[in-house]
Amino acid sequence: MLLLTGASGLLGEAVLRRLLARGVPVRCLVRDPRRLGSHRVRVQLAIGDLADPAGWRNALRGVDTVVHLAGGARDQPRATVEELNGLAAWRLLRAAERVGARHFLWLTPLGAAPTHPMRLHRAKALAGAAVAAAPIPTTTVAHSLLYSPGDRHLRWLERLGLLPAVPLVGRGGARTQPLWAEDAADCVLALLDAPPDGHARVELAGPEIVTQREFVRLVLRAAGRRRRTVPVPLAALRAGLRGEEALAGPTALVTWDEAQLLSVDMLSARGTADAEALGVRPRRLAAVLGSG
Ligand SMILES: NC(=O)c1ccc[n+]([C@@H]2O[C@H](COP(=O)([O-])OP(=O)(O)OC[C@H]3O[C@@H](n4cnc5c(N)ncnc54)[C@H](OP(=O)(O)O)[C@@H]3O)[C@@H](O)[C@H]2O)c1
Repeated sequence: MLLLTGASGLLGEAVLRRLLARGVPVRCLVRDPRRLGSHRVRVQLAIGDLADPAGWRNALRGVDTVVHLAGGARDQPRATVEELNGLAAWRLLRAAERVGARHFLWLTPLGAAPTHPMRLHRAKALAGAAVAAAPIPTTTVAHSLLYSPGDRHLRWLERLGLLPAVPLVGRGGARTQPLWAEDAADCVLALLDAPPDGHARVELAGPEIVTQREFVRLVLRAAGRRRRTVPVPLAALRAGLRGEEALAGPTALVTWDEAQLLSVDMLSARGTADAEALGVRPRRLAAVLGSG
């Protein structure tokens, strides 16, 4: 049995679709099964929350592979960013060890380090140290920006495109190698086909390096809009978004931690080499967005 977390997310849904097409028995750890759409009748459901490890016992019964894709860049009422992305990964790994799982695959953003400016990256780096020393085989998938037409981030940019000018996070110079979630999912499936003996780490990145400014322009062009972009200094953005969070609480449209994701580089010096070694040739942004 394979346990999948984050099956309702951008990458998780693409991975789940592929596993089901292959007839792999899947159990999904989900907070709300409705978030799985029609997939929910084709999987075993384990209702649970990353914030509540006591509730994972049934989820792990009989599991030999754990694919841990859940996480989040904003604090939740029951868990902080650190608990969701660091502590939960560490606890799930320990739980996988206890049931004798033979493969633990998880996600971490490229550049994650204990001194990174982002809380999410720091938390992932700490969990990464535990994963790399685990007594069971593990695969760490270090990824650049993951996207898909219609995902939450792109929908948000398209909405900003209704304004006369689109605000950037800082000067918009942060560089990523955007990778289509469908290409990333193909890579994950290839990694599941060949579990490592020890600890494997792959870097998944798309075929081009783009700044945040270029990414915004490409997304807007695909949506049929040409707009000016305006840099917003990070200090001003932080003050504004922290104020919005204080007023709106969990219903805030965007949090500072989420916006900050767009201000950091997520780059692999290996480019698409690891994806290609898995038999996947990542597609260019313009081809995926239909603007090229
Ligand atoms: N996309 C990127 O470029 C990017 C960049 C940096 C880091 N990451 C990290 O990569 C991972 C997956 O990325 P993604 O883009 O697929 O994210 P996503 O689309 O936001 O999906 C996140 C998934 O995690 C689940 N989840 C969130 N909080 C949970 C909780 N408390 N208990 C159980 N499940 C929970 C969500 O379930 P619900 O449906 O219940 O919300 C959803 O299935 C996450 O760790 C994310 O933080 C992604």
